[in-house]
Amino acid sequence: MPGSATRRRLLWQAAGLAGLALSSAAWRPALARARLPEDPFTLGVASGEPTPDGVVLWTRLAPAPLQPDGGMSPEPVAVTWEVAEDPRLSRVAARGEALAVSEAAHSVHVEVAGLRPGREYWYRFRAGGHASEVGRTRTAPAPGAAVDRLRIAYGSCQKYEAGYYGAYPHLAADAPDLVLFLGDYIYEKTASAKGVRRHPEGEAMDLASYRVRYGLYKSDPNLRAAHAAAPWMVVWDDHEVVNDYGGDQDRADTDPAVFLRRRAAAYQAYYEHMPLRRRSRPVGPQMLLHRALDWGSLAQIQLLDTRQHRPHRTCDALAEGKMIPDCDARRDPARSLLGQAQERWLFDTLDRSQARWNLLAQQYLMGDLQRLDGRYSNDGWGGYVQTRRRILERWRDAGVSNPLALGGDIHTFLAGDLSLEPGGPPLASEFVGGSVSSLGWENASLQPVLAHNPNLKFGDGETRGYGLVDLTPQGCTVRFRGIESALVPSSPVRDLARFAVEAGRAGLQHA
Ligand SMILES: [Fe+2]
Repeated sequence: MPGSATRRRLLWQAAGLAGLALSSAAWRPALARARLPEDPFTLGVASGEPTPDGVVLWTRLAPAPLQPDGGMSPEPVAVTWEVAEDPRLSRVAARGEALAVSEAAHSVHVEVAGLRPGREYWYRFRAGGHASEVGRTRTAPAPGAAVDRLRIAYGSCQKYEAGYYGAYPHLAADAPDLVLFLGDYIYEKTASAKGVRRHPEGEAMDLASYRVRYGLYKSDPNLRAAHAAAPWMVVWDDHEVVNDYGGDQDRADTDPAVFLRRRAAAYQAYYEHMPLRRRSRPVGPQMLLHRALDWGSLAQIQLLDTRQHRPHRTCDALAEGKMIPDCDARRDPARSLLGQAQERWLFDTLDRSQARWNLLAQQYLMGDLQRLDGRYSNDGWGGYVQTRRRILERWRDAGVSNPLALGGDIHTFLAGDLSLEPGGPPLASEFVGGSVSSLGWENASLQPVLAHNPNLKFGDGETRGYGLVDLTPQGCTVRFRGIESALVPSSPVRDLARFAVEAGRAGLQHA
């Protein structure tokens, strides 16, 4: 056993590094290897952040995930992991040990390196005499490699009470190379009498209640299976903290100092439950979430965080709720939905991108959606018009190859073209992938709004599901995959709509 000073230092390091794979020689207390009486792998496994030589593996030890401590005592627990080239895990490519500590809710985030590019791997964890299920993942292709195809599934908005996650078995069966989750993974709201399942009583407000909320959501077997099927890249929207928050402000105008404590708890719980790299580990109320992912020469995905760095809402004095008239402040160039630093990062990244397709993975419909009474939502790009304009101009002026935008948040499948001026030539197309379970617009009230916004070519707010994107060097197809009903756990899927975008020619076509 290490001496107590060394032991304290190691514990401190383990807490600070929160699941970093420590070499087993550095830490071998008998306690960390004690048998756990119950299966700790109730929340499943996940992987994410693929690079050409590695991937992040995630799990969290929680035999009782609806308890704030997950049913774990506070001691650290050693978790071993292995990555193999076959589903039976006989050809092991890498293995190691990580320490799960209570400061990170006994989650582990293993950054595996040294793998081969562009291939499938399978992985498993062991702890306390138990083994996790086996997950499948894959690495990204070698930098600049010629790649024939990439299949991306993307989803958002999975309010637990609103429905079952019957979309996910179909998403897994579609065998995507990569899954993008674009926000609203949990909802913070209290239990409601409506709905097919129930939230806990009381809004998620602090670290314990956010942890329980993730435990509840991940108790859904379809969600766990989808994580085990492919690597995920995740970004958040508002409900991972609270509805419609922006920066340090919530809708209730809570004192920012108080609100930031809530945000810190929410970000910490988010990190603990997602397959993210250490670079995203939160520091107080701050967390680095924007990043880019390369898929050989075929695609680059730029993932945005449109919540953390935005300035306060505008034009609220003129409006009830979030719908605002077409006020001047909406067009104030000083306002950035991304914040200055993220915006600079995005433009540098776009300037350097050599990829054939450039996908902006973000939270919302980018194009205008003016209501019939002339109002806009100030919660998305409609409240930050100049940020959108700057991105479109950058796509054009930097000659960014085949830009596309993917979005979520509004619980409605939407497809449209993005132009600098209304009716102008399209610079890009965008596809909002509906919602996994959250309720959306009624189509009867959506259709006249679509007719009022000719940039939008398709909409359906009554069908739950996800988007499926197939990229080749020649073209992109997007399918909106709709399930029959999210009110039952298992439901058939169909293509609700299909679109095509030809490489080198902006604008979507129905396919
Ligand atoms: Fe949502």
